[in-house]
Amino acid sequence: MMVIFAKEASIPEGSVRVKLIGGVPVMVLRHKGSLYAYVAICDHKYYVLCERSFKDKLVCPGHGEAFSPETGEPSLGKAKSPLRRLWLEVREKEIWVEVPGREVLEELARRTSE
Ligand code: FES
Repeated sequence: MMVIFAKEASIPEGSVRVKLIGGVPVMVLRHKGSLYAYVAICDHKYYVLCERSFKDKLVCPGHGEAFSPETGEPSLGKAKSPLRRLWLEVREKEIWVEVPGREVLEELARRTSE
């Protein structure tokens, strides 16, 4: 299932927007002209990536992990896995994103209680 996230023009180059979708924080960002959507949670200690802008990397506010905006891969070895990518489409100047599945919430609940 997809939902409207924002107007395409509201996310200029180097900016990030984060919204709760289906109970999960979802981020959409623009890098080198392209839009990307991820679950906005760093799996080091489960902080939400909430910065509104970035340069070359997305920086976790928890302990500074730096993620690639293009792949979601962490580069400092704190996060255990890449940011989870979500499907994104632009239709008539609106950004639509995939609603994270129930399995995302269940996985987060399981991992944060370990
Ligand atoms: S929670 Fe992201 S670096 Fe620790």
